Amino acid sequence: MIDYRSDNTGRAAPQILEALVRANHDTALGYGADDWTADLQRRFSDLFETSVRAFPVATGTAANALSLAALGPSWGIIYCSEVAHINTAEANAAGFFGGGVKLAAIGGQHGKIEAGPLAEVLAGISPAQLHRGQPSAVSLTQATDLGGVYTLDEIRAVAKVAKRRGLRLHMDGARFANAVARLGCSPADMTWRSGIDIMSFGATKNGGALCDAIVVFSPDIADGLAVQLRRAGQVWSKMRFASAQLIAYAENDLWLEMARASNRIAARIAAALRDIPVARLLAPVEANEIFLELPDGAMDALERDGFQFYRRSRTLARFVCRFDTSEAEADALAAALRRHLGSATAPRATD
Ligand SMILES: Cc1ncc(COP(=O)(O)O)c(C=O)c1O
Repeated sequence: MIDYRSDNTGRAAPQILEALVRANHDTALGYGADDWTADLQRRFSDLFETSVRAFPVATGTAANALSLAALGPSWGIIYCSEVAHINTAEANAAGFFGGGVKLAAIGGQHGKIEAGPLAEVLAGISPAQLHRGQPSAVSLTQATDLGGVYTLDEIRAVAKVAKRRGLRLHMDGARFANAVARLGCSPADMTWRSGIDIMSFGATKNGGALCDAIVVFSPDIADGLAVQLRRAGQVWSKMRFASAQLIAYAENDLWLEMARASNRIAARIAAALRDIPVARLLAPVEANEIFLELPDGAMDALERDGFQFYRRSRTLARFVCRFDTSEAEADALAAALRRHLGSATAPRATD
């Protein structure tokens, strides 16, 4: 079996597991009052070139929902892409933790929100209107849920429209590392220097073990969020072990190295796809995910060959590369696609 189902099917990086073992000595205060959690604040502040508050959380869903809940009132409307994970796959956790907050989808290509449609939608809701809820925040997924990456200019264009209306900005960075690896920019440029107030910083999918983080760039949000996290059961009593994982993740650019590795594998497969026009990409491969429109029968044939992946519809397959996916596994997939699709005809539109 060759597993392309998700970047959470893989191992954790040995450096992260070793950090857990190294943290296992003596006593340490609970609930984040330990030395590791203090160190995490310094490390992440260095990484982001500004003073941040970093909160380890158990999952990306917790990071997203609690970040969004911190951004506005319970009658707020949060704008996101139609395909955003918060909109499609988190059981409306944002609405739950936000006390009724509503998500509203905005159009754009490749899983992005675009500034123009956002401006149009905002112009249609006046601050005096009582009947619709009020816009409160925007959430961008970076890298996007279709494997694309916002450029800094694209983030800034959305931020400009949002800030003009006083909205806050959240980034779902479940694959932030892949996006930074792709653009080669600094984490600071992709976040607070582009207007992001708060980010869900993914680690688990990118070689982490058991936690992600919320990174707060706008200090006024942090104290209220800390209380919400406690209410939501997202404050470990043995927090040192959560913080130790994230310190190891950031240390020596491990997070970036792992993302570069999974991006490289995805790019290798994408390069092979250029010779197989019948396998149509839904979005450019800019991070570690590949969304492919395939003709009838192709998915069955790939599964018979031992490839595992998700069927997103009758004709759409998703392949995700992990930090530990090998070049040989990439070449095996490319060869199988060539074998099965060399003489195939184009698929019908996605159903
Ligand atoms: C873009 C994105 N955000 C958030 C999440 C949520 O992460 P978790 O499954 O850890 O809650 C995922 C998981 O698939 C994701 O792909």
